[in-house]
Amino acid sequence: MKRLKTKAKSANVQNTGSVRQAYKAWSEIYDSNDNATRDLDAVLLRAADLVLEHAHVVELGAGTGKNTRYLASRAHHVTAMDLTPAMLDRARLRVPDSHVSFVEHDLTQSWPVDNNCVDLVVGNLVLEHIADLGFVMQEAARVLRAGGTLYLSELHPFRQLQSKQARFTIDGETTFVDAFLHTTSDYIRPALANGFVLREMTEALEDNLPVNVENPPRILTLRFELNAS
Ligand SMILES: C[S@@+](CC[C@H](N)C(=O)[O-])C[C@H]1O[C@@H](n2cnc3c(N)ncnc32)[C@H](O)[C@@H]1O
Repeated sequence: MKRLKTKAKSANVQNTGSVRQAYKAWSEIYDSNDNATRDLDAVLLRAADLVLEHAHVVELGAGTGKNTRYLASRAHHVTAMDLTPAMLDRARLRVPDSHVSFVEHDLTQSWPVDNNCVDLVVGNLVLEHIADLGFVMQEAARVLRAGGTLYLSELHPFRQLQSKQARFTIDGETTFVDAFLHTTSDYIRPALANGFVLREMTEALEDNLPVNVENPPRILTLRFELNAS
């Protein structure tokens, strides 16, 4: 069993092979197992009121296409990147649309996307697996047009501090996927340093559950806009 690692000092400590292996196994049940975080994330994205019409969207860590299908239903083009071929195989079946490009890619490496051509970058439940958020913010700022939007939805840092992380159970055996602790300012600081302005932040829990010490917010969402100047 793998537990949440202490925050990485450098991107080099990432073990993407281990993450890929874990998601290969998880892909079998990712869409069918009980997962309140996955489900709340889907609700929040659909409620986020992002401008999708005519948009070129880049999706980070698209997984099995849970959100890709929604994005593709409105956007002009979606480039959906993910590390794990087995997750992407399911996404391709789920979203066979010709205006969606699924790309096997490690987000810690330069993204295969041109400069200044994207309207919206969306990342859902993926950045806990990435140590260096500065590189992600840098690449998002590079590919977005001025005025473009970066929308992130991640497991809330309060949950991470309770040692929660991406995990799944098959045949009674639980696998914890390698993850890095990110505080809220860990997201905001590098975004500001790369020219983003924070437009909105939410800390969400599923319906009717009161937020308290036993029940911290489940998901943190951040909506940034790339400064036009
Ligand atoms: C919890 S799933 C989320 C999938 C989808 N965004 C969703 O909300 O259902 C995390 C995904 O991130 C992908 N991932 C993890 N590390 C990655 C990396 N370094 N580069 C690209 N994708 C990565 C995994 O392969 C997996 O599909």
